[in-house]
Amino acid sequence: GMPKLVKIVEVGPRDGLQNEKNFVPTTIKVELIRRLVSCGLSVVEATSFVSPKWVPQLSDAKYVMEAVGDIEGVRLPVLIPNMKGFEAAIAAGAKEIGVFASASEAFSKANINCSIEESLSRCRAVVRAAKELSIPVRGYVSCAIACPDEGPTPPSKVAYVAKELYEMGCFEISIADTTGVGTPGTVVPMLEAVMAVVPCEKLAVHFHDTYGQSLPNILISLQMGISTIDSSVSGLGGCPYAKGATGNVATEDVVYMLDGLGVKTNVDLSKLIMVGDFITKQLGRPSGSKTAIVLGRA
Ligand code: HMG
Ligand code: MG
Repeated sequence: GMPKLVKIVEVGPRDGLQNEKNFVPTTIKVELIRRLVSCGLSVVEATSFVSPKWVPQLSDAKYVMEAVGDIEGVRLPVLIPNMKGFEAAIAAGAKEIGVFASASEAFSKANINCSIEESLSRCRAVVRAAKELSIPVRGYVSCAIACPDEGPTPPSKVAYVAKELYEMGCFEISIADTTGVGTPGTVVPMLEAVMAVVPCEKLAVHFHDTYGQSLPNILISLQMGISTIDSSVSGLGGCPYAKGATGNVATEDVVYMLDGLGVKTNVDLSKLIMVGDFITKQLGRPSGSKTAIVLGRA
């Protein structure tokens, strides 16, 4: 049944900005994180410690983390691909991290330049090191519905990668439709396969909104018992190595839907709309949130 409380994982400062062409100044990134926190969000993925050659937009990760070190009462995880990223993240003050693997070989190669098995062993090394420092690790599974090169992903493959991440010690597994091609028709059988191997309360869903299917996909996920939802303010986002992928589902639209369902999020929608207004003005683009466009009108 439908959960009473949903945890929203705001990924805007990381997934939202990683795909931006023009470099967003560090001070703006820091301001975005501060404003998101003030909306009541309990988890804000702050940045990533990846190769600056691969994702130049987030090459200031160290400075972002140093500048948000004083913020209290919120979790600010960072995404990392390997031990080098882990060490840099810890040195910069990160207290929580995320690792990522793909359910598609072609996307694994395109995104992190290695096979799925190699990426899982990198994740294992990171989880082992994190455990020694009592750092919680979240795991992501990309291409849970399809891969831009390989086509549809078998649900059994998604379940396999999710189970590996869970069994190595990730506290939460976020199942990602990287290219946003899923519908409830493909999401349900995929989540059934994953739920057979990872407890439902340990799962999150991460939908990109390429085909406008995120809200129905989230609704069906909630009905299946999932209570952690990833989203990005104003629907910013996308992976530079996933052809044709657009932004994440907009946090404003998720909160509007959950408010309507009477599901608690602790997120202040009107404040969130002002944050969306701030960042979209900085980026010089319209909001990807329909809710923000309607409610943001003066
Ligand atoms: P590689 O070229 O195979 O790595 O890249 P390498 O080990 O040969 O190293 C090459 C250079 O990168 C070396 O520097 C390393 O030191 C450096 P050089 O000697 O040439 O000066 N390097 C690093 N620098 C900083 N931080 C690091 C790091 N690691 C190596 N952590 C690598 C392999 C994994 C590094 C690269 O492919 C990479 O950084 N990929 C990240 C791509 C990325 O960030 N994608 C987006 C995030 S995932 C996502 O968006 C999906 C998600 O949202 C869920 C979904 O929607 O599906 C999570
Ligand atoms: Mg993503």
